[in-house]
Amino acid sequence: MSEQLPEGVQRREFDGTERLATRGEPVYGEPTDGEWRAWNPHRSKLGAMLELGMDTALSGGETVLYLGAASGTTVSHVADFAGPTYAVEFAPRPVRDLLSAAESRERLFPLLKDARKPATYAHVVESDVDVLVQDVATRGQARVALENRQFLADDGRLLLAVKARSEDVTREPETVFEDVREELSEGYEVLEARRLEEYHADHLGIVARPR
Ligand SMILES: C[S@@+](CC[C@H](N)C(=O)[O-])C[C@H]1O[C@@H](n2cnc3c(N)ncnc32)[C@H](O)[C@@H]1O
Repeated sequence: MSEQLPEGVQRREFDGTERLATRGEPVYGEPTDGEWRAWNPHRSKLGAMLELGMDTALSGGETVLYLGAASGTTVSHVADFAGPTYAVEFAPRPVRDLLSAAESRERLFPLLKDARKPATYAHVVESDVDVLVQDVATRGQARVALENRQFLADDGRLLLAVKARSEDVTREPETVFEDVREELSEGYEVLEARRLEEYHADHLGIVARPR
């Protein structure tokens, strides 16, 4: 069990089961208890990374750039405990739900942008963000992380979920992960890497810092 939860994230009981939780308005039909809402690690790679006790270095209150926000399942939890949270998503449909999640979260800023084109949001996102979270599930995941490294503070952290099948469905996930790590090393030092198998098939969770 992790002892490294950020402030604003707690393990709380929901229907007799201890689960991760943050304080905020519910977003995806998750169980609530007063102002707390359960964070489902089966629907969130970052939730799985925390559940598995990975050292994310998240402490609460940090500035976050989140790539691949979709309809806001995970980024809504992040905005519950973090500081300014910039949420990039390029598909218009999920962004509609993301906007709803942002209504009650004044620190959550949805951006309908392509994470492969950081120049298109560089004027909006502040520099030296503390944490870059990436869950884009698209080919070229290492490249996206490298292209967005420019936003990260020197002592910041990349929290990356790599989906093997998005790179190549025909290859062994372990081989794909090796290639992603190799490419990532152009700009990052990997501090921790762990398969998220218990929660997400063929995904690797990575904690890295810029080099
Ligand atoms: C696995 S889903 C993200 C789930 C989300 N992170 C969560 O946990 O709530 C991947 C998302 O990345 C988005 N995506 C893929 N490529 C992208 C890109 N180049 N720029 C922005 N978003 C992208 C997809 O549209 C999709 O919504």
